[in-house]
Amino acid sequence: MDGVDAPELLDVAVRVAREAAALVRTRRATGLGDIGTKTTDTDLVTAADRAAERLILGRLREERPGDRVLGEESGAHDAAGTGTAVRWLVDPIDGTVNYVYNLPHYAVSLAAEVDGVVVAGVVLDAGSGAEWTATLGGGAWRAGRRLTGSVRAELAQALVATGFAYEPARRAHQAGVLARLLPEVRDIRRYGAASIDLCFAAEGNVDAYYERGLNPWDHAAGGLVAAEAGLLVTGLRGQPPGGRMVLAAPPALHGPLHDRLAALDADGGP
Ligand code: IPD
Ligand code: CA
Ligand code: CA
Repeated sequence: MDGVDAPELLDVAVRVAREAAALVRTRRATGLGDIGTKTTDTDLVTAADRAAERLILGRLREERPGDRVLGEESGAHDAAGTGTAVRWLVDPIDGTVNYVYNLPHYAVSLAAEVDGVVVAGVVLDAGSGAEWTATLGGGAWRAGRRLTGSVRAELAQALVATGFAYEPARRAHQAGVLARLLPEVRDIRRYGAASIDLCFAAEGNVDAYYERGLNPWDHAAGGLVAAEAGLLVTGLRGQPPGGRMVLAAPPALHGPLHDRLAALDADGGP
């Protein structure tokens, strides 16, 4: 991480996320306007998603012109001029369906990677104002409190958050996994924002979280928050967290939940 300071990147991330969250809140209060669809009929995008991403890209370009950016709504952006080793992962509104329905839990999620490793991240719930942050090796934090996650070890006692993809065939596979897992755990939660799910796991508001089919901008910031809270954040069968699976669980619970998900082929299917 030569020449790049994770706390400095976090400082930029937090300031930019706060501006974007203010825009998202204002748009919610003043009317959403046209609501479109993206990958499927259930995958929504609003003018606020696009406006928040434009704001974030503009502010990152001002503050850190040499960095690359991958944004959910606008794709990959090269550095202006000589590049740095930093790439930003931007989800301008994680939880757009909640946002459209005026339900709680929608967040601005910003993460900074250096040479492909996430070193700083912020998840800012635009509705409640809850703000989770982490730097690599610097811990996970909310409101001045260091986060440590759940200490639960038994799968049968675990409250597990998860989410579902937008493609119907993938959902059908996810539903099959869930039908087998549900009788074996305390209960399941589906909050509708992967970044917040990961921060809830970091805070011990749920015991663990898993999801198949996430994109990097969904889990980069929240994944760092969970890992820095002491959770194991992995894929299945030795894989790193990624599109096939993101599993975040405290060390004592990770083994049993991992093995059950692997047996249920939770990272398989379409
Ligand atoms: C979605 C949310 C949801 C998860 C989906 C994501 P979006 O992100 O994080 O909880 O289940 O897989 O795509 O579309 O609201 O940014
Ligand atoms: Ca998302
Ligand atoms: Ca989004």
